[in-house]
Amino acid sequence: MYSTEKPVVKYRKDYQPSQYLIKNTNLLFQLFDDYTLVTSELKITRNPLDNRETLLPIELDGVELELVSIHLDGQVLDDSDYEKRAHTLIINKVSETFNLTTVVKILPHKNTSLEGLYTSSGKYCTQCEAEGFRKITFYLDRPEVMSEFTVRIEGDKAKYPLLLSNGNPVDRGELTDGRHFVAWHDPFVKPSYLFALVAGDLDCLEDTFTTMSGREVKLELYVDKGKLDQCRFAMDSLIASMKWDEQEFGREYDLDLYMIVAVSDFNMGAMENKGLNIFNTKYVLANKKTATDADFEGVERVIAHEYFHNWTGNRITCRDWFQLSLKEGLTVFRDQKFSEDMQSAAVERIDQVKIIRAAQFAEDSGPMAHPIRPDSYIEMNNFYTVTVYNKGAEVIRMMHTLLGKTGFRKGMDLYFDRHDGQAVTCEDFIKAMEDANGKDWSLFRNWYRQAGTPVLKVDLEKLADGHFRLNCEQSCPATPGQEHKNPFMLPIKVGFLNNTGHPVKFAETNDAAGVDETLLVMTETKQSFDIYCESDSLVPSLLRDFSSPVKLEYSYTQEELASLFAADPNPFNRWDAGQTLMTQMLMSETSKLTEDELSVVDNAFIKILNDEELDNALKSLAVMVPELNSLIGMSDNVKLDQLFAKHKQLKVHLGEKLEHTWFSIYNTTSGDTSGDRWLRNTALRYMMIANDEQHFELAATQQTHADNMTDELAALQVIANASEGYRSEYIEQFYQKWKEEELVMDKWFTAQVVNDDEAILEHVKALLNHEKFSIENPNKVRAVVGAFVAGNTSQFHNPTGQGYEFLADIIIQLNKINPQIAAGLAKQFNQWRKFDSKRQALIQEQLVRIKSLDNLSNDVFEVVDKSLQMS
Ligand code: TRP
Ligand code: ZN
Repeated sequence: MYSTEKPVVKYRKDYQPSQYLIKNTNLLFQLFDDYTLVTSELKITRNPLDNRETLLPIELDGVELELVSIHLDGQVLDDSDYEKRAHTLIINKVSETFNLTTVVKILPHKNTSLEGLYTSSGKYCTQCEAEGFRKITFYLDRPEVMSEFTVRIEGDKAKYPLLLSNGNPVDRGELTDGRHFVAWHDPFVKPSYLFALVAGDLDCLEDTFTTMSGREVKLELYVDKGKLDQCRFAMDSLIASMKWDEQEFGREYDLDLYMIVAVSDFNMGAMENKGLNIFNTKYVLANKKTATDADFEGVERVIAHEYFHNWTGNRITCRDWFQLSLKEGLTVFRDQKFSEDMQSAAVERIDQVKIIRAAQFAEDSGPMAHPIRPDSYIEMNNFYTVTVYNKGAEVIRMMHTLLGKTGFRKGMDLYFDRHDGQAVTCEDFIKAMEDANGKDWSLFRNWYRQAGTPVLKVDLEKLADGHFRLNCEQSCPATPGQEHKNPFMLPIKVGFLNNTGHPVKFAETNDAAGVDETLLVMTETKQSFDIYCESDSLVPSLLRDFSSPVKLEYSYTQEELASLFAADPNPFNRWDAGQTLMTQMLMSETSKLTEDELSVVDNAFIKILNDEELDNALKSLAVMVPELNSLIGMSDNVKLDQLFAKHKQLKVHLGEKLEHTWFSIYNTTSGDTSGDRWLRNTALRYMMIANDEQHFELAATQQTHADNMTDELAALQVIANASEGYRSEYIEQFYQKWKEEELVMDKWFTAQVVNDDEAILEHVKALLNHEKFSIENPNKVRAVVGAFVAGNTSQFHNPTGQGYEFLADIIIQLNKINPQIAAGLAKQFNQWRKFDSKRQALIQEQLVRIKSLDNLSNDVFEVVDKSLQMS
């Protein structure tokens, strides 16, 4: 939690191998009602990689630990032999190998940071990544220190019949006073951040998986009592992931047991602890009645993500935390590929790119901008970012695009062969890809070094009949600490339409056979590519599938965008053309959209909606107006009030102008597939925007009679968004039906905070006092505060500044309770320099107020300090 220690900046360039390693870690946990005793026996040796001349005192990490006893090689240590500081324990006289035994007392019931050992609805669980293990015992809490763990857990048998840890159970038995124990051994060496412990009384869904070499693995999914009917989908997702990793990457699971435990109080989505994943319930529990189609996709994706970490993260881990993208970028890429194979690839790709544009571009243009491999940090928890994760995945995807599936697989195979069992760096990964494919990727490394979103400017020049030239120029804005940028290696996938809006074949030299699509690779600041094509004029379809994470600039006319939107054979770019068309209009200098502009969009929408070839999921994505966050994320200077007005104008126009179309889609689309439900609910949303009184009954009937959460929630949302809708009786009806389902309550909270009404903030504040709300539960904070701030853009930015003051109040409250969540919320202020001077002053005032707090956590300090510094 917070401490009086001054924040210290850690730099990547200062890395030195640990002087000591821990060969064996033997832990005893004695769980008692008010405290837990942790006894740790460590076999410590000198690191062979260490080349310092002298043996330094060993500095073990330890935070909020009460030291009960300490022995070195069996001898009690005198007070003068060691020094206990706020975050470390320093032992002066040590040798090349020694055994260290410590006993510490910790207070899991009082741990609201949800880091280390804590309790969540009556059970014990752990979260050790990134640096939480030091809240459990004194240790060399850094990922390059990989150790073989043995763990014995003792606790009350009635309250905690289940005592789980990593690896395989090796012993169990009875103790006195109604207590029992279970002992675990993990045969794979691992860093401390992958340690896990769970104790509780839970229901279990069991299954098995037979691996490609014929070994049978037991699968166990643990949930709170009474939730077994919400587990099947997660289990099936796990089995599908195991199969996929064998088929696509030849990776087989390595233990005989794979356990997943779902807990309600969790800072992030889930955690890949070896053999014992711990999950936020949000990414486990799902059945048709309680979970939406989007929730099911989330479960499938996160289950896969954590499973894939077993090879990319656990068997091969990170040398130090600056290398986080080594495991996260790669594992996100793997889970994305999996989802593309399970769902529609184009829909999945569109979702991925929306995240990059709305959140990652925003981060890249703000005070916390960092390369996917950061150069420094104060609090590592602040660097579990969309840049490290999602831009990191884009960087891996570019490698995949450049090498093709086979070349990429060769590189992965070499990476696993070379580094299994090691803690390595991003550089090691790139090297394996290069070596397996005979490439020199010196330039590609700039993606790891440089922050900021590159801008790719393209124009198309006609040189002669049938001969064109694409002129490309790249640049990258300065980011904090990085003034000058070098060019990036940019894979640019392109195709062309002719002047009648039909895809055409083209060639890169005038005698080559025509192709539909090609990959141009840009390696310099300015570069041109010749295109030969028998056509009077061409419309380029650029950066297909978002082949590089850049901002594309091409001066398309509205007609050109409309023709790409109607007929680009690349479904991603087809969607993107529509988004660009609307973005250009919404972000232009004008204060209102013209009749001409509006009719360009509604005509384009009609074509999309009438296209028999297009599936309903893609249709609904295509007819969605770009989200405000994405528009803000993509630009450097935003006139918020004008943007809100035009955004609303466009939505209302589309609702009204196409009202009959929406109505007929609503009535004729069956609700059988997720794509159907999605399109139907999109239609309902537009109808309600057009006329919420007239269509209210329709929504109310849908809410009352829906047999699935997707439709039930969609109805609740449109009702709650209608004028004064958040006061509707249907909110109460939903509450009465679902008040015992925590995850459904989260949705209920969120539905009520996104109404555009000026008075909504009072309602949001009232929800904080609701009996189902708890400031200590991150899902609830995200459902109310996070959803208001990120999802109700216009009211968060209300010109009075009351939204900003509200967020600051919550950050201040959470700073003490859960610094990680507090800091995450504080990042919501990072965009402030993009806004008008009045809003800037209001936000700055709040940032200054937060920064002046006593006992500010490192987490929050780092965010607000950087936000105030950048000028
Ligand atoms: N490694 C986890 C993942 O990506 C992320 C994670 C879970 C995490 N819990 C955390 C990171 C707490 C930091 C702190 O799957
Ligand atoms: Zn991960």
